[in-house]
Amino acid sequence: MKGVILAGGKGTRLRPTTRVVNKHVIPIYDRPMIYYPVETLLGAGIDDILVISNADHIGKYIELLEEDFDADFNYKVQSEPKGIAHGVGLAENFVNDEFVVLLGDNILIGDLTREMLSLDSPGAKIFVKQVDEPAAYGVATIDDGKVTRLDEKPDDPPSDYAVLGLYRYTSDVFDIIDDLEPSDRGEYEITDVNKAYVERGQLEYEVFDGEWFDAGTPEGIYKASKVVRDNRQF
Ligand code: DAU
Repeated sequence: MKGVILAGGKGTRLRPTTRVVNKHVIPIYDRPMIYYPVETLLGAGIDDILVISNADHIGKYIELLEEDFDADFNYKVQSEPKGIAHGVGLAENFVNDEFVVLLGDNILIGDLTREMLSLDSPGAKIFVKQVDEPAAYGVATIDDGKVTRLDEKPDDPPSDYAVLGLYRYTSDVFDIIDDLEPSDRGEYEITDVNKAYVERGQLEYEVFDGEWFDAGTPEGIYKASKVVRDNRQF
């Protein structure tokens, strides 16, 4: 199975820093943010990894990652931050069939195993976790062990299951991405991709037991750094 890390985007919530550096080099405690998704994939036995970022910063990731990890990295430029689903679409020539997408600002602390990434039947899988403030994320409604509804950052969340930035797809996702329309904020939304699987009755889910942080905000960076620091053996 191959892995895709999305490390582009605008980093709006981390300005002014992200006016001059890409979000995913900002440290989480003592290491650049992108090291954590790389380690999550390596921990699941995935070492064939495509890193997608913008033209200004992709060279920095080559410098960083080749030095510190024993993995087979590939790189691709997303020329404009047109949305997560647009970024996933850029992986079409890299993947064969089964692959995992991990957002570069998602810090997972706890095991992600190959078994958790498996599918019971053809389709896709999302990972969810109950949180206090679901309105900041994609939100999944789960009834009778099935995802029945997905909402992207709803004002009035119908459940407290946040959707992690971790997705398991097969290459049929590229047909769905080809048919997407941009959202009101002008982005190709990953939640719209996953909604297509809900409509087909093909979206599986797994509750992630470990700790999860979206480090796309100052608060997320702070909380993730604290947990990383507290878990570190000195
Ligand atoms: O963290 C989980 C959340 O991530 C999910 O719950 C949401 O459903 C999902 O939409 C996403 O929400 P965010 O608002 O956090 O997405 P953000 O725009 O911050 O982008 C997340 C990552 O994807 C970030 O590491 C940068 C990368 N990205 C984003 C865009 C829009 C790209 O590589 N290219 C892009 O065009």
